[in-house]
Amino acid sequence: MQSLTTRLEMVFKQVRSARGSVKDGRLIDVGSDHGYLAVRCLEEGLVSNAVCTEIHKAPAQRSEKALIDAGFREVSEVFVTDGLNGVPLKENDIISIAGMGGLNIVDIITRALKDNGPEMMGKVTFVLQPQKSNDIVRKFLSETGFDYEDESVCKDRDIFYNCMRVVYKGRSSSITDEEACYGPLLIKKFNNGDKDVADYFRHLDDIFEIRKRSNPTVKAALEARKKNEG
Ligand SMILES: C[S@@+](CC[C@H](N)C(=O)[O-])C[C@H]1O[C@@H](n2cnc3c(N)ncnc32)[C@H](O)[C@@H]1O
Repeated sequence: MQSLTTRLEMVFKQVRSARGSVKDGRLIDVGSDHGYLAVRCLEEGLVSNAVCTEIHKAPAQRSEKALIDAGFREVSEVFVTDGLNGVPLKENDIISIAGMGGLNIVDIITRALKDNGPEMMGKVTFVLQPQKSNDIVRKFLSETGFDYEDESVCKDRDIFYNCMRVVYKGRSSSITDEEACYGPLLIKKFNNGDKDVADYFRHLDDIFEIRKRSNPTVKAALEARKKNEG
């Protein structure tokens, strides 16, 4: 079985939750690099097919080799492309975009919505693991009409990561600066006593304490958090 880092294992678990009991669908891993996530999802029978996209040729070749070596040549495709360009979405697809900056993620989803239309976007699930700019990703998702199904956190080699599972509903909503910076679902988990989320929030507090000097969104979020935590 393909082993994954703690961070990718968290992404894998969100894919598994997204799949639920309906196994007949694809994983589209955008920015697949080594292809480990696609291999693991196929090995576990979570998906019937995997599509990997890569903007660069060398990582695309790595993904292709990993899939072929693991015996999945017939049920996988690898494309050198930007985001989801040239990969039309299908019902039940799970699209993972992990290990990338938030602005890149927003750009890829914006173009996917334009190319595939709102009806198809409502039939797939996105699993997103931004490396940074979580506040921008969360504001974009709410304003664009995505609902959050779950958000998880992990610590991998002393670095915290988060991963969101979202679905497009086409109902735009707004979130506060606090929700954008800390995550609406993570705030709920914190309020329910989740220890991992509490550790993550203490880490965010420390970072935001420095960043608030130059970032009004972060300043407002930190102040609201302190007030709401009492
Ligand atoms: C840091 S790696 C993360 C790999 C893997 N998803 C993971 O989480 O371990 C980011 C990968 O995304 C690819 N990438 C960046 N922007 C992309 C885009 N717009 N479309 C497709 N791939 C992209 C990069 O070439 C790189 O291989």
